[in-house]
Amino acid sequence: MLSRGLGARLRPSRAPGGPVARGVCPLPYEWFRGILPERGPVTIDTSVAHSARIYDYLLGGKDNFAADRDAADQMVAALPNVRPASRMNRAFLARAVRYLVTECGIRQFLDIGTGIPSAGNTHEIAQSIAPQTRVVYVDNDPIVLAHARALLTGTAEGPVAYLHADLREPDAILKDAARTLDFSQPVALTMLMVLHMIPDADNPHAIVDRLLDALAPGSYLALSHPPNDILPDHVMQVQQRMNERLGPGQSMTARSRDDVARFFHTLDVPEPGVVQVHQWRPDRLPDPNTPASIWCAVGRKN
Ligand SMILES: C[S@@+](CC[C@H](N)C(=O)[O-])C[C@H]1O[C@@H](n2cnc3c(N)ncnc32)[C@H](O)[C@@H]1O
Repeated sequence: MLSRGLGARLRPSRAPGGPVARGVCPLPYEWFRGILPERGPVTIDTSVAHSARIYDYLLGGKDNFAADRDAADQMVAALPNVRPASRMNRAFLARAVRYLVTECGIRQFLDIGTGIPSAGNTHEIAQSIAPQTRVVYVDNDPIVLAHARALLTGTAEGPVAYLHADLREPDAILKDAARTLDFSQPVALTMLMVLHMIPDADNPHAIVDRLLDALAPGSYLALSHPPNDILPDHVMQVQQRMNERLGPGQSMTARSRDDVARFFHTLDVPEPGVVQVHQWRPDRLPDPNTPASIWCAVGRKN
């Protein structure tokens, strides 16, 4: 599998407690043959924080650099819930995918903002229930691209594809995803913890509307989004610290429950509606001491 070896090669050497070498890592095209259409190296800038690598660090992964760890530590210092909330978000992903396959009959997923592969990726959960499920992953971070082969473990029966693309170009995503997905049939659009990386100026609600427009009746949207109306003072500090550290072209915008509900304005939202991720169809009664988390919902297009 490419992921571990690549992570090891990219990781800067560091003496315990010593300085961390930073820089730009060019990755040979050969690693991306069949995934990237064009020739040329893929570069990963390790000197600034990236959301995929910050999240990887928060989840206990090893594919991150000093700049990412610094940004994540700053977030945790402002809001200690960030780490358990990230884990609860992954658990929501697993429950939502199981619900969509088992209770809604979904056999196609378009998963945008995939992240660095972690335990229980969308296709693994879906195909463990329905092996014929088709999945297209989309992310714009070169480090996720570098791990794409770890995701591409589909079969002829249940193909899995990866698109290196930006959510802000929904038409390009839909065109390329149509090589794997049949858009005349229902698709679950999963966008977990990615829309906060689209600032208001780029109109995230219009982007989601455009993607949903292309989906057949019976399709679903599942998303999660960091709140600005739960522990707002702490979240504003998190946002500020992130935005001081994220690399070019990246910024974070936390949003309210009402803002999140507006992503579903054309859909039916079954129970429990827009809730925190640990409250969405939990496997067992949530512990009353569970820390506050992230907004989420699942909605159906009629
Ligand atoms: C916090 S991770 C979420 C991973 C996964 N969806 C989950 O919830 O476990 C956010 C991911 O969105 C990706 N992302 C951020 N902005 C994006 C954009 N404009 N287009 C596509 N992907 C983006 C990042 O590279 C990162 O991998």
